[in-house]
Order: sequence, then C-alpha cells, then structure tokens
Amino acid sequence: MTRPPPRLIVNGRPFDLPGLPDDERLLDTLRWRLGMKGTKEGCRTGGCGACTVLVDGESTLSCLTLAKEVDGRSVTTIEAGPEDAVVARIRSAFAAAGALQCGYCTPGFVMSLAGMIRERGGVASRAELLEALGGNLCRCTGYASIVRAVDRLVPGGP
Ligand code: FES
Ligand code: FES
Repeated sequence: MTRPPPRLIVNGRPFDLPGLPDDERLLDTLRWRLGMKGTKEGCRTGGCGACTVLVDGESTLSCLTLAKEVDGRSVTTIEAGPEDAVVARIRSAFAAAGALQCGYCTPGFVMSLAGMIRERGGVASRAELLEALGGNLCRCTGYASIVRAVDRLVPGGP
C-alpha cells in the first residue's frame, strides 16, 4: 500500500505535499512551496526568531524544523485569518502601537507572543510576554514600540 503524501494543515487549510524532500525546512515549504511569504527568513540558524510559527499552538522556529516533522500537524502563521483571535489581536496591538518599522521581524514577534498567550490559556502577564520575545531580534532596534505593543496585550493595558 502506498503511503499518503505528507499533509500540513496551515491556518486551518490542508495541503498535501507529494514529493516533499526529507531535508526541506518548514520555513522553505511555507515560503516557496505554499507561497506564504509572511514567515521571514533571517539567520536560518535559530538565532533571530524571524521565522517563528506555531506548530499545534507552540512557538516553533521554522528554519530548524523539517516540514516532514510536522506531517499531519497544525501550523499557524502570520497569515492566519481574523478567526484566529489571538493572532488578530496581536497584529492590531502592533499596528496601534506603531511597532512596525521595516516590518521584517514583525511576523516572528507576533507569533512568539501568540505562542505564549496560547500557552497561558489566553492571557499572559507582561513579564511572560517579554520573556517570550527573548529569541526575537529587531535590526531596526526599535524595541520601545514593540514593548508598547506588548503593553496593549496585558489585561488593563492601554
Ligand atoms: S531564520 Fe529562523 S531563527 Fe533566524
Ligand atoms: S522592524 Fe525592522 S527588523 Fe524589526
């Protein structure tokens, strides 16, 4: 019996990937095979966080993850629709706080925060959110606006 092709569920949509190479990174599958360019490539070595996505709700560096490892699992990217209330809320907080400069790092920051909020059952503290961003780098060096976005995600924030 032939095995079915690997299947990724990305933002709720199933994608069958016949012929997926064993060594293809999830980052490349998302960007080049599925055309989802929102997930960014920075270092490709796990050091910048630009490629962060959620796999079954958990923050994951897609540059260090083989696409085949997530066969049958659920991947959430920055392109998640408005039905993903957590991602939508974080995107809005970044917009309201003016926390996008060149914007290259932003998808990674958003997804790292989404992972923490999911992990904490929908509400995370300021300290937890800032901790979640420990692996995300912004080369525009504008962390103050990113922290203002985080403040908008904390209960009782602006
Ligand atoms: S591109 Fe994945 S951590 Fe930098
Ligand atoms: S906004 Fe430019 S790298 Fe972060």
